[in-house]
Amino acid sequence: MKKKFISICTISALFFAGCTSNNTSQESCKNEGDINPNGSSELSLIMRKMATHLAENRDALKAGKGIVAAPKEIDNLLTAKKTDEEIDKTIYDGYAKLYQQRIIEFNKTASAPDSLKIMAHNNLVSTCRDCHSNFCPGPMVVINQLDIK
Ligand code: HEC
Repeated sequence: MKKKFISICTISALFFAGCTSNNTSQESCKNEGDINPNGSSELSLIMRKMATHLAENRDALKAGKGIVAAPKEIDNLLTAKKTDEEIDKTIYDGYAKLYQQRIIEFNKTASAPDSLKIMAHNNLVSTCRDCHSNFCPGPMVVINQLDIK
């Protein structure tokens, strides 16, 4: 429990740092650094769970352990309330669907060799990166730590 709390704080802190340094004008950055769940959008809460999920899988896969199940909230990626509802829906929805598809592909590797699990994991990280390169880029610092090299 304690560990989870710390990682959420770290994620938000890093997000905050990334946004304030060069993207203060981006609307999709509005809620950065807000660690109070009541003040955060539904989507930012899902994002934190997604980040934790991939961090857990990175650690599990590096240790040669099995994959960790995805948070069920990923089903709501397309409908979740965002801080900024004005962001490009076509781009957002395209990557959200791709992420959901890649979660299915990742889950299919549960009993596959480690190399395939790692490839599917890294595909998920690439999707985080691709979507974020279009919107608030602050979380990129967090995303770049999720790859398994
Ligand atoms: C479909 C596009 C998309 C994908 C894929 C995506 N993100 Fe996001 N992410 C966003 C948007 C848009 C926001 C802003 C959410 C808001 O404030 O409502 C965001 C916010 C965040 C935040 C900040 C949450 C907070 O504390 O407010 C983090 C961290 C984050 N994303 C990490 C990730 C990680 C890690 C992945 C991959 C597991 C990922 N994102 C995948 C679009 C995406």
